[in-house]
Amino acid sequence: MVRLKDKVAVVTGGARGLGLKITEAFVAEGARVVVAARGAAGAAEALAHLGERAVFAQADVRDAASVRSLLGVAADRFGGVDIMVANAGLSRPGPVAGLAFEDWSDALDTNLNGLFHCVKEAVPHLEKSGDGRIITLSSALGSRPTRGAASYCSTKAATEMFTRVVALELAPRGITVNCLSPGFIDEGMGKLLAANEAVWSQYAPKVALGRMGSGEEVGDAAVYLASATGSYVNGHVLEINGGLSW
Ligand SMILES: NC(=O)c1ccc[n+]([C@@H]2O[C@H](COP(=O)([O-])OP(=O)(O)OC[C@H]3O[C@@H](n4cnc5c(N)ncnc54)[C@H](OP(=O)(O)O)[C@@H]3O)[C@@H](O)[C@H]2O)c1
Repeated sequence: MVRLKDKVAVVTGGARGLGLKITEAFVAEGARVVVAARGAAGAAEALAHLGERAVFAQADVRDAASVRSLLGVAADRFGGVDIMVANAGLSRPGPVAGLAFEDWSDALDTNLNGLFHCVKEAVPHLEKSGDGRIITLSSALGSRPTRGAASYCSTKAATEMFTRVVALELAPRGITVNCLSPGFIDEGMGKLLAANEAVWSQYAPKVALGRMGSGEEVGDAAVYLASATGSYVNGHVLEINGGLSW
């Protein structure tokens, strides 16, 4: 039995990396997914194997009007929206003393302002669903200070608190809000780490399971939070990191 039958999801940043893995997991469980990103190049090819159950819509999460239009497209195309996965995010590394303000700003604009727009604009649609779900994306670095990652660590820490606050506010409106916090995943931006044996060998001993996670393992966790199995989970940050100590 599939767990997301008749559900409609919007996944930002869903045409590659972890977003694509979440999209694939949702489609495998019977959902229809509107996948959003700024760049359309390669999106059609990336989603082709999912057939008509995954469609691409260009959107920039930094722009409220763009996100509003994305949700409108999803609702018109599939008759409503039940699940919003605010997955789009980026990293702007560098020690603070040398970090360009533009890089700092870029991280806040996408990771936090984008999150705000995705959650706020989704509310009227998810409320109509009667069983709305919001899933945000933090990171293991959101609770573990890491040199050279001030903008990323800060925005991901804020994502976790934002999730907890919004979970309180939206529960009376029939919407749960939870956060996935992946650790070292061999997918998307995590692939860079996997490809650098010298760096990975320093981090591997911190992971109890001694290996990187897969995109599929993140997709499975997203299905759990989006489906009936996760209906009583709210305001939770779910770590998917193989047991990570810092
Ligand atoms: N991979 C990991 O190991 C890992 C670990 C912990 C947390 N995470 C989190 O998981 C999420 C996905 O990461 P990833 O590794 O899959 O990254 P990724 O491979 O770099 O993909 C990021 C996606 O976000 C989209 N995006 C970026 N800015 C956007 C914007 N302004 N509007 C709309 N879409 C935008 C990108 O598409 P366009 O550039 O075309 O817009 C792309 O599809 C992020 O929030 C990240 O912080 C990842």
